[in-house]
Amino acid sequence: MNTKKVTPITDPDEIANVLHIYKTSRPRASGWSGGASPKEDPEQLTNDSLVLHCTKCNVNTSGVYIRPTDKTRRCPACSSLLMYCPVCQNSVSATEKFSVLSCDRCFADFVTNSTIEYLASRDRAAREIVLSGIRATGELHLGNYLGAVRQFVEYEKGDNLCMYFIADWHTLTTCQDPREISGNSIAIATDYLAAGLNPERSIIYTQSSVPEIAELALYLAMFQSKNQLEDLPTLKDLVRNRSFISMGHLYYPVLMAADILGPRATVIPVGSDQVPNVELAISIAKKFNELFGYIFVIPRIGSRIIRVPSLAGDKMGKSEKASNISLGDSLEVISDKYLRYGVTDTGRKRKNDPGNPDNCPSVYPVFKILRENNPIALDTVKQECLAGTRGCKECKLELAIDIDVLIQPFRERRVELSQKRKYVEEVLHFGGMKAREIIQPTVREVREKLGIISV
Ligand code: ADP
Ligand code: TRP
Repeated sequence: MNTKKVTPITDPDEIANVLHIYKTSRPRASGWSGGASPKEDPEQLTNDSLVLHCTKCNVNTSGVYIRPTDKTRRCPACSSLLMYCPVCQNSVSATEKFSVLSCDRCFADFVTNSTIEYLASRDRAAREIVLSGIRATGELHLGNYLGAVRQFVEYEKGDNLCMYFIADWHTLTTCQDPREISGNSIAIATDYLAAGLNPERSIIYTQSSVPEIAELALYLAMFQSKNQLEDLPTLKDLVRNRSFISMGHLYYPVLMAADILGPRATVIPVGSDQVPNVELAISIAKKFNELFGYIFVIPRIGSRIIRVPSLAGDKMGKSEKASNISLGDSLEVISDKYLRYGVTDTGRKRKNDPGNPDNCPSVYPVFKILRENNPIALDTVKQECLAGTRGCKECKLELAIDIDVLIQPFRERRVELSQKRKYVEEVLHFGGMKAREIIQPTVREVREKLGIISV
């Protein structure tokens, strides 16, 4: 089913590192990961052993199985995928969605051998397993986009296995309104797609659709010192202005380590605020490997680590709406926000006074990020500010235009996708199934290493 050309990797270390998980995901001889077993023992099936009936165009076709594990074929009349559904035990047509098969009769979904092959072939050709997440705390802002999501899309364009999720469990540390969390989970998934992620290429899922992540976090926590967690700067940020500090706050980076180590991710693109958490995941992985032998791939942080300032000059975040630029903001709104709230060089009193871009907390740093590939245009801003020939107002309006040009395609796609909630839910549903396929074998292995036996 997967016709993608695969470039095999030849370096033995790379094979051991990158393909490790698939070795443990193969033993499923029948090819089914869920549902009741088929009436016929798939191992016994041979050519002509089953007649499939296409429920779409009513054609019967025989001679289905070439190998015992080949469980699908196409209807000779309408080309629909056909399968023998192990849940409703019927020969039916099936729909393939993001490499997962869905029975057209009982709507059961199946990860099949072809899904595993899809994942493995992506992986074999992959340079990296890229993973990152965003909490379901609200609409994406410019900081999320430039610091994280833009890189997600870049990695997807390369031949990488990309896994991007919505960290809904992590969201519970700062938001406990169920409607907000569920609504924002769909909103972030929509934003991922609007930003240009392709669910045929990237695995997009909610963290909670893989319960094994919680199990893995529990194992990791058993070996993690409480003091080290208390000293993390990310904990201080998370609990700032809070009188109640929960176990969840302390546990936050451990859960994050499970997100990362479960799929054996190699690269973690995040903004600068998340670096200490990823470093903790790296240290946990090293410690586990030392204690129990090779289990985890040692990940590294994505190479572009940036911090986008808010209009007030601190880190742009979801909580301060007036101080952030939402990806849904129009040119008028962006201009208005910068004009009203954008803090510039406070030493500059009059329009024609020479300014210092290095003392500008909210405008020049964003120019620097947006114009990194256009040093001449960036230098013009700097020189004109230094010479006092460019006022702060002018500068803010020019920046607003740069931002508007950047986010315009996103805005348009978001409007389109907001009408397609069902599609977004499907992306998450099938993404969750695939992510689970990838993560389960690691957790199984950790369980074994720790002596937690399945009886
Ligand atoms: P927020 O901080 O807005 O609540 P998240 O914590 O969910 O958003 O962050 C999601 C991703 O976006 C993380 O990789 C984070 O580092 C990145 N990010 C958030 N804000 C910024 C920012 N101002 N600059 C750069 N990256 C950021
Ligand atoms: N803590 C991250 C944030 O607030 C979100 C996150 C959860 C994450 N798990 C992760 C990011 C794993 C990267 C990898 O931004």
